[in-house]
Amino acid sequence: MVKKNWSAQTELIHGGNSRSQFGETSEALYLTSGFVYDSAEQAAARFREEEDGYIYARFGNPTVRAFEERMMALEGAGAEDARATATGMAAVTACLMSQLQAGDHIVAARALFGSCRYVVETLMPKFGVACTLVDGKDLSAWEQAVRPETKVFFLETPSNPLLEIIDMQGVADIAHAAGARLVVDNVFATPVLQKPFQFGADMVVYSATKHIDGQGRCLGGVVLGNTSYIKDELANFIRQTGPSLAPFNAWVLLKSLETLSLRVDAHCNNAERVTQFLVEHDAISQVFYPGHESHPQYELAQKQMTRGSNLIAFEVTGGQEKAFALANALDIALISNNLGDAKTLITHPATTTHAKLPDAAKAELGIKEGVLRVSIGLEDGQDLIDDFAQALAQTR
Ligand SMILES: Cc1ncc(COP(=O)(O)O)c(C=O)c1O
Repeated sequence: MVKKNWSAQTELIHGGNSRSQFGETSEALYLTSGFVYDSAEQAAARFREEEDGYIYARFGNPTVRAFEERMMALEGAGAEDARATATGMAAVTACLMSQLQAGDHIVAARALFGSCRYVVETLMPKFGVACTLVDGKDLSAWEQAVRPETKVFFLETPSNPLLEIIDMQGVADIAHAAGARLVVDNVFATPVLQKPFQFGADMVVYSATKHIDGQGRCLGGVVLGNTSYIKDELANFIRQTGPSLAPFNAWVLLKSLETLSLRVDAHCNNAERVTQFLVEHDAISQVFYPGHESHPQYELAQKQMTRGSNLIAFEVTGGQEKAFALANALDIALISNNLGDAKTLITHPATTTHAKLPDAAKAELGIKEGVLRVSIGLEDGQDLIDDFAQALAQTR
């Protein structure tokens, strides 16, 4: 197909597709781990990287490549190349390890998904890479944390679970002035609602397990960046250490991208209605939703995101007992720590996703006993509001 100047929605349907000789409509699934060569000379030329072509699925596979190319097309300017990984955590770990070495230093926002925090705070220091955690909302804290050996800044915006917003351009300017690179985990916003490269990010990482799959079926991840970083640093790290995405999962994710922007829009429609209901409810003391004017960083969220996405955090009056009672009383919303699914999922971060954080770190992040995080799904919006209304009535 001849490449045109397509909009994102068209890229989501056609981007990255290369038809086989059979002319299939839907993307082909190349469920193969190996590839054969016409001759021993050709095999040698491929290994010497003198000839293009696949070698082994740990290094690359046509279905995985189609997913990477569709992600690049969706992400747009700045995403010159990409590598898919087996999970979102594999993407985060590979992105960091491929560009850091003993003696380097990371500055990261303290409001991170628990496993991301483990990687920067516990894993990387084991290999001699020091880490400073800062209040990501405070630009002066990023500036003060810089050391001569600082190489990477890492953040999530909106953050998991309390949906803090970080000024990406402000942080990128500080990183670049210090000669460091900015890595943004864009899972909560999705590539539909927020484009971190437009705000100075050098690399963008995703858990494709979330909205990209969107139907809770398979794990996946992806790292996007400029050609030299992907080809010279990340590709070889993935080739040698093997956090590669399975072709079958790549095919599921590739097909899921076709409906991503439609799903994300419908998620946002529902999330906006549920937020309004929760804001007005007297048993809820606080609601955090980047798309609602009550969010403390609403203006920044408006600047960086086109809509608020589908994650809402809120605090129930009455602490953990009431929060558990509410989660247990919901009929439609299921208790699950996953997110970005067609099904509405609710979790109690203090005892699940962030359970391993010491109490002091939870307190610092505002992860209180009464806080719940809900990932709004694609059910009927009024049914979701009715479900929250009946569950809140039961737990009075
Ligand atoms: C912000 C964020 N980053 C990374 C991940 C890790 O993704 P995965 O579960 O696909 O490894 C998650 C998972 O919940 C997440 O919420």
